[in-house]
Amino acid sequence: MQIGDPIGGPKITTAFSLNVTLLPRHLPMVSFFRFLPPSFAPSQKTYPTMHKRPVTVPDISGRKNSGKKITALTAYDYSFAKLLDETDIDIILVGDSLGMVSLGHENTLAVTLDNMIDHTQAVKRGTQRALVVGDMPFMSYQVSIEQAVTNAGRLIQEGGASAVKLEGGARMADRVQAIVQAGIPVMGHIGLTPQSVHQFGGYKVQGKNYFDSRQIRQDASDLQNAGAFALVLEGIPGELAEEITKGLKIPTIGIGAGQKCDGQILVLHDLLGLNQDFVPKFVKQYAQMADNLKSAVSEYIKEVRDEKFPGQEHTYHSKQGSLKQVND
Ligand code: KIV
Repeated sequence: MQIGDPIGGPKITTAFSLNVTLLPRHLPMVSFFRFLPPSFAPSQKTYPTMHKRPVTVPDISGRKNSGKKITALTAYDYSFAKLLDETDIDIILVGDSLGMVSLGHENTLAVTLDNMIDHTQAVKRGTQRALVVGDMPFMSYQVSIEQAVTNAGRLIQEGGASAVKLEGGARMADRVQAIVQAGIPVMGHIGLTPQSVHQFGGYKVQGKNYFDSRQIRQDASDLQNAGAFALVLEGIPGELAEEITKGLKIPTIGIGAGQKCDGQILVLHDLLGLNQDFVPKFVKQYAQMADNLKSAVSEYIKEVRDEKFPGQEHTYHSKQGSLKQVND
């Protein structure tokens, strides 16, 4: 790869939303399932982390040099958040990639703070254990320190996030410091910061020459000094990410930044193979859910047309004679 190589196109994925809310959410699971036949009860395998205590910001900071990598994924809605929370994932980021993944925008710049608050609320409703981090969208923190603190506060107070993430290094250190002083934990984000896509001229790997890499190292240390509890390193060479990771006291979480960060983050839709438009080099698809989804839908269409669905087992029946009474 050369300097300025495109890291890949926008992370556009098919908007996809499950609707699996079958049970009243606030009923304690254990007592509810007591009344169901064993085949309906949740198995240990399905809910392995149900009773684990919530992940905290100090838990994440404490993972530096612990030998256990931090794992993070994005989610934008209740259903996906609930599924993720039932795994062992440490952090659920309500990323502003929401704009591309769920809202179908070309980049993340159109995402508003109200969008982020709505989706953070939905994710929070589905999450009992993982740390929920809310992303600060474009123009919600750049204009002034005061706006940055106020808007970070809204993501916590209205959205229910436990921490916020914002993009930018040295230039944003004063915002980070002020938000942290207000008692709100901040995750930094440097390297290929998608909100600066126009400044970069595309989604290009950053820090490939001496001056850029020096700036990114400076960004990392300024954000640490400003009080960030962790740093996302996006789209930078693995060697630079390793050097930054070794030099910091706070953990780094990489995306397109090689293996040596203290943790990794991916966009969930990319990991699941829901995005068929473009697969960037740094993404590994652990499933092909777009294919699964399309074949399930095609089967449904065929069965409806062939009058195979709904079958008798999916049909409610009236009591004998009751229709007659109703019609009389
Ligand atoms: O918005 C996002 O999804 C992100 C990451 C994947 C780091 O910022």
